[in-house]
Amino acid sequence: MTDSEALNARFALPGHLRFAAGPGGLTVAEIANAAGTARIALHGAHVLAFQPRGARPLLWLSGKSWFAADKPIRGGIPLCWPWFGAHPADPALPAHGFARISPWQVLETQALSDSLTRLRLGLSDTAASRRQWDHAFAASLEVTVGAELTVALTMRNPGAAPYTITAALHTYFAVSDVTQVRVLGFDRCPSIDTVGGARTPGVQTGPVTVHAETDIIFSACPDEAQIEDPAWNRRIRIRKAGSLSAVVWNPWIAKAKRMPDFGDDEYPGMICVETTNAPGDARTVPPGGEHRLQAILSVEPLG
Ligand code: BG6
Repeated sequence: MTDSEALNARFALPGHLRFAAGPGGLTVAEIANAAGTARIALHGAHVLAFQPRGARPLLWLSGKSWFAADKPIRGGIPLCWPWFGAHPADPALPAHGFARISPWQVLETQALSDSLTRLRLGLSDTAASRRQWDHAFAASLEVTVGAELTVALTMRNPGAAPYTITAALHTYFAVSDVTQVRVLGFDRCPSIDTVGGARTPGVQTGPVTVHAETDIIFSACPDEAQIEDPAWNRRIRIRKAGSLSAVVWNPWIAKAKRMPDFGDDEYPGMICVETTNAPGDARTVPPGGEHRLQAILSVEPLG
């Protein structure tokens, strides 16, 4: 019996959800209901795709992505956890934490209505995780698919000592042309521009637009951001909870060329607007406690 067959025997939901071998042989949950479709790899609990019925795909996935057990996937929604960016003390540890390159377990599948399907995946500490981050943890990712996509990462602490995390739902959105879109929601927010390894503080004025490499951490953010894309006549809304920070990222030309898993000509088609607990927004989870980082993604016509 293949992994997918074994999972289907326990968790398939006829008319809603089944497991299949996806790119690179990775096991993928394929969700399709009356309101939307989505694909989620168990590798990294990684949302690869989401599309409300009748709308364009919301998420961008690189044609050059790796799909391998030891590498992160480029595009969709990588889960950065338990640290965001480089590890603060040991740069040899994987960038953006180990969650996105770990095999997650299926905990539960639920058909909530004809147009709402839920998948819950889990990850707990192992000897290997303890060597990188010496804490007991129970993380779960709940993905709810309908006309909107809700992604919620819950980090529980079953151990005896508190732990502190940084994290991101590192969402890659598909756009018509990154130079033509406006990202709203960060006006007057404190910012740190990290392009080229710098850390230049500032304050955002008006919408964020992209005409060069862009890598900005915003803090004290309101709980909604929007991407306006006139050529595709759409507004993407990103509503969030458990987060006071966000990152807007586009690698532009030179950095795209340096990344082996990112096509040289792909940068105009994407923008990351990441729902984060960035370093200034780290969270400490006490023994027996939990922290939940959530994003709700939806789309509507601009007019
Ligand atoms: C962003 C960072 O969150 O992730 C960027 O701000 C980084 O600096 C980008 O380049 C992609 O990271 P990675 O590890 O997936 O290549």
